[in-house]
Amino acid sequence: MRKTFKRYLVTSALPYANGPIHLGHLAGVYVPSDIYTRYQRLRGRDIIHVCGSDEHGVPITLKARNEGVSPQDIVDRYHALNKKAFSDFGITFDIYSRTSNKVHSDTASEFFKKLYDEGKFIEKTTEQYYDEEAGSFLADRYITGTCPHCSNPGAYGDQCEQCGTSLSPMDLRDPVSRLSGSKPVVRKTKHWYLPLGQYEPWLKEWILEEHKEWKPNVYGQCKSWIDQGLNPRAVSRDLDWGVPVPVEGADGKVLYVWFDAPIGYISATRELTDDWEKYWKDDETRMIHFIGKDNIVFHCIIFPTMLKAEGTFILPDNVPANEFLNLENNKISTSRNWAVWLHEYLEDFPGKQDVMRYVLCANAPEAKDNDFTWKDFQNRNNNELVAILGNFVNRALVLTNKYYGGKVPAPAALNAYDKEVLGEISNIAGSVERSLENFRFREAVKLSMDLARLGNKYLADTEPWKVIKTDPERVQTILNIALQITANLTILMEPFLPFSMEKLRTFINLSDAGWESLGSADLLKPGHQLQKPELLFEKIEDEAITRQLDKLANSKSNGEGTHEVTPRKAEISFDDFSKMDIRTATILEAEKVPKTKKLIKMLVDTGIDKRTIVSGIAEYYDPEQLPGRQVCVLVNLAPRQIKGIDSQGMILLSENSDGQLYFVEPGKDAHNGAEVN
Ligand code: MF3
Ligand code: ZN
Repeated sequence: MRKTFKRYLVTSALPYANGPIHLGHLAGVYVPSDIYTRYQRLRGRDIIHVCGSDEHGVPITLKARNEGVSPQDIVDRYHALNKKAFSDFGITFDIYSRTSNKVHSDTASEFFKKLYDEGKFIEKTTEQYYDEEAGSFLADRYITGTCPHCSNPGAYGDQCEQCGTSLSPMDLRDPVSRLSGSKPVVRKTKHWYLPLGQYEPWLKEWILEEHKEWKPNVYGQCKSWIDQGLNPRAVSRDLDWGVPVPVEGADGKVLYVWFDAPIGYISATRELTDDWEKYWKDDETRMIHFIGKDNIVFHCIIFPTMLKAEGTFILPDNVPANEFLNLENNKISTSRNWAVWLHEYLEDFPGKQDVMRYVLCANAPEAKDNDFTWKDFQNRNNNELVAILGNFVNRALVLTNKYYGGKVPAPAALNAYDKEVLGEISNIAGSVERSLENFRFREAVKLSMDLARLGNKYLADTEPWKVIKTDPERVQTILNIALQITANLTILMEPFLPFSMEKLRTFINLSDAGWESLGSADLLKPGHQLQKPELLFEKIEDEAITRQLDKLANSKSNGEGTHEVTPRKAEISFDDFSKMDIRTATILEAEKVPKTKKLIKMLVDTGIDKRTIVSGIAEYYDPEQLPGRQVCVLVNLAPRQIKGIDSQGMILLSENSDGQLYFVEPGKDAHNGAEVN
């Protein structure tokens, strides 16, 4: 039996404050959570929607180090950017908080302390890498070394990105600290663990039995985690950025980011209202977590176990996680800069928030990964928003202006078709409601568009512009009905298209009509004065789309400084460096090495001598272009045999963001043999 609830607590995943929001975030989490929240508000429910920045975690400290600024600088920057972008896009959080604030560290510490005092954690001492030069333990991501599986020398302590294997730092050969470049040593360290295994029987019952209604992708992931058996999870880390572990003898330790971040939902609520406990501690509250699929285990298993262990909090009633959105057939990637950033969209398409909201909802990755393309964006705007919704509304309003000076005409007797059309409004509204209650947002937006389709068809069938000449009374009825449909649309589509529906409500002078008025044929009374309408949507031309596609192509090739950089190699001394003898040289002759794809054999004048060098640059340079070019050559490298040719030295190359190699060029007017150092 389904419970009934008195109030709603909606949470949206706290985005990391180390980068801007992109379309993937929006489609997966924030567009659906905002639609849901707006819908429940229209129904008059007691509902709050909380979110904020997730400001801890190693990637933030790494980014800060790379830029030579503090982690606080990084999170301040992105918190401000993202908060504003969400608000400009019409995402209606009741609060957008942040986890570096005091309410949060207090809340998270209290939470930890309570579990600690009640003996809910296990303490374990393990061996971990420690950087003696930097004086700190090393998070997995702070260690690089050689992958034991594929020998990639740049593997990280948690994963080798070349072969995809997940690793632990002890697996790496020749580990190096990214902090100082030194070789880390092994030291003992104590941490606290949440014994998930103890909660397995409860989790099985609570999720697998009591929440069979969860989306199949969510339920399936939970089941497979539970079936594999749950191990204790460390909830602390040796780091200096985060919420300090609030117990004696925990110096230099902070809460693990995935322990503190979901508690951020609680702290945000606390910051929002003194009455926060009614949202968190009363089981008549329905809590719903909106997240992307990579967050499922944290929101369905770990956080609920934390809440259960604490004992005074409610648990989520549903976790409608989405799959991922791809962009133009490629995975969205921050590091490769393959993304459409929200703050840039808002600049490039001012006033068009609803178009993106509509497209992302209509094409949401609800059951499987989905693709966003700019062409589809254009098509949905031009063929649906403009041609169906905009067109219908415009015809209804323009004709009313023309025939009745913008006053709602009184209907005469209704015929069967009129009645059928009016009846259909409630049917559609009922279907939209069922879809929204069950988190089927794609279906909901499509169904709501059906009401505009119905309106269009009604006008096309009844042809008021012709009938006006023969039966003007009939036209009063037709336009009255068209206007009632318009008024209903402003309510039904508000959750999806809030900006346009607000505009439309001002055109028709309709204020505060809630969800309960849907289906009414009397929202606009006869004689009610309308405003002069403008177009709700405008066509998007090819040019705008081409500009976006070009922008993507460019950002891919420049990388805009956001490329993943290979971790630093071990430190060397100045003496090591000065052993290298690098000279300016000129290529004299060049030819492809037969039967190879990449190799070019060159004769080079180094100023010291003329010698042969083989280099793997045939994909980037044509041998004919090479004679006369100046390059830098490492001249004291031991000769190597390459494809049977004695290669004496190495030409210096650097890589651009497409992975292409280019010569490192000597300075102006360098003579052969000039030293490079
Ligand atoms: N910052 C996480 C992410 O972007 C989400 C955190 S959700 C919370 O994947 F529950 F931890 F807050
Ligand atoms: Zn590997």
